[in-house]
Amino acid sequence: GPHISRTIADLRAQVKEWRRQGLSVAMVPTMGALHDGHLSLMREALSRADRCIVSIFVNPTQFAPTEDLDKYPRQLERDLERLAEVGVQLAFTPSPDEVYPEGFATKVVVGGPSAGLETDFRPHFFEGVATVVSKLFLQATPDCAVFGQKDYQQLCVVRRMCRDLDIPVEIIGAPTVRDAHGLAMSSRNAYLDAGQLAIARQMNVILYSAAAAIAEGADPDKETASASRALLDAGFSNVDYVAVRESGSLGPWQPETEGRLLAAAWLGSTRLIDNVAIAAR
Ligand code: PAJ
Repeated sequence: GPHISRTIADLRAQVKEWRRQGLSVAMVPTMGALHDGHLSLMREALSRADRCIVSIFVNPTQFAPTEDLDKYPRQLERDLERLAEVGVQLAFTPSPDEVYPEGFATKVVVGGPSAGLETDFRPHFFEGVATVVSKLFLQATPDCAVFGQKDYQQLCVVRRMCRDLDIPVEIIGAPTVRDAHGLAMSSRNAYLDAGQLAIARQMNVILYSAAAAIAEGADPDKETASASRALLDAGFSNVDYVAVRESGSLGPWQPETEGRLLAAAWLGSTRLIDNVAIAAR
């Protein structure tokens, strides 16, 4: 199985030894409760570098006090088995105190692609993500890091952060892994009962159909409004947003450029997000 580093010092010693041997290093940041989506990122990482570090850390600063930090699934033993299956060499599993010692007082705030979408509903989310991801990069100093398109705005924010702060880590975006019904895999799917799971599986169908219509010239405002209604009709209890953005900057989309259709909706107390490409004409 993988070597387990619980401290930054131990992680740094491992990476230093790899560097001494001339090996390249990839990183996959996660919050654990690993599923096939996470594993695909690790396979991608191992195809690009000699060694792969997976961090497993449920980052408290990206959860609002009202969110699911305490009930977020934690299953370290099973996660370590999955890392062994894929051949990951190092698991970084720091404690909250190791990452945020007493007196911690610094934040990384990214503009650009963090505006709107998730930020309208989780205003502190990307500050928490950008702060922890920049710390992980400084702790592990990987050559590249793999993020899932599942969290598309997060991928864009991390890319922007690395560009803006000259963080020398190549950011690789990997495709969303879906179940046989097209539902994007997520640790939060574990919260869904059988009835909710059936409803959740409608989300991708609704998004793909709206994205295809928009790609063929339909009015984006009309399509996002009707996709939002379709989500509610399917049984979602609330829709935070369904929106079209330019695929790289996440700014306003111009027809004939590549776009992205992004959505967030609730099933009871579970919040699901997904997104699909809008092909350029
Ligand atoms: P987490 O939700 O555990 O996701 C870790 C990585 O797995 C992210 O890059 C996410 O986009 C990717 N991922 C999740 N589901 C996926 C799927 N179905 N297909 C492909 N990739 C998928 O995202 C986070 O953790 C945190 O915000 C983190 C970046 C670790 C910072 O705390």
